[in-house]
Amino acid sequence: MPQHLAIIMDGNGRWAKNRGLPRSAGHREGAKAVKRVISSCLDFNIPILTIFAFSTENWKRPKNEITYLLKLFERVLSKEKANLIKNNIKINFIGRLNDLPNSLTEKMKELHESTKKNNKLILNIAINYGGRAEIIDALKSITLKIVEKKLNIEEINEDTIRDNLYTHNLPDPDLLIRTAGEMRISNFMIWQIAYSELWVTPVLWPDFDKTNFIEAIRSFQKRVRKYGGKM
Ligand code: IPE
Ligand code: IPE
Ligand code: MG
Repeated sequence: MPQHLAIIMDGNGRWAKNRGLPRSAGHREGAKAVKRVISSCLDFNIPILTIFAFSTENWKRPKNEITYLLKLFERVLSKEKANLIKNNIKINFIGRLNDLPNSLTEKMKELHESTKKNNKLILNIAINYGGRAEIIDALKSITLKIVEKKLNIEEINEDTIRDNLYTHNLPDPDLLIRTAGEMRISNFMIWQIAYSELWVTPVLWPDFDKTNFIEAIRSFQKRVRKYGGKM
């Protein structure tokens, strides 16, 4: 079993378009797929799930879509709070969280606080997240440590970078799933996925179900991970 599963949830817009519906309908349906995937992780004892909810590049979208998405996050977080607690899920957020609307960050803080002792599943939500922004932020905190003479340049190694990423307390993803068929990373966890196994499916995110989930896990289980070494 992968210990850390990461997902680029893509295809909400296409799902809606195929049905002649507004993109918002795709996002709403996508939220249901998130519930399904959380339940699959609980069933299969996968301890860490990271989902890409909103990227630093998604601000390029029309204002009404952005507003809808941010409100949807707020609504879902409130509505699911009790369920998340009941299922012993710990919620964590990664991204430039300070640039999100206050009402949303309040909900996020509250949910993080009230689930921090839970330990069945870590649900890591990437929101206003960009892999490059994360590396820039890491670089800033490393530079500050050098300026303050808490760190020597010669000491910088992979662990220094890792320890300054938003994901500092998490292992790298073992498996990265992308739905909706695009063969690209779209600025997601670019440092952490250096050796993750990739699985791309044409299935659109709102349609992603338990069968697709099992298919991805089966594929992962057949992979031979070499990390550049010899098997
Ligand atoms: C993924 O679906 C959801 C977010 C990026 C927030 P999209 O909205 O990107 O759906 P497509 O790619 O337009 O189909
Ligand atoms: C990636 O999907 C971001 C999220 C899933 C939140 P996008 O739809 O934004 O990616 P591109 O634009 O197709 O690369
Ligand atoms: Mg997309």
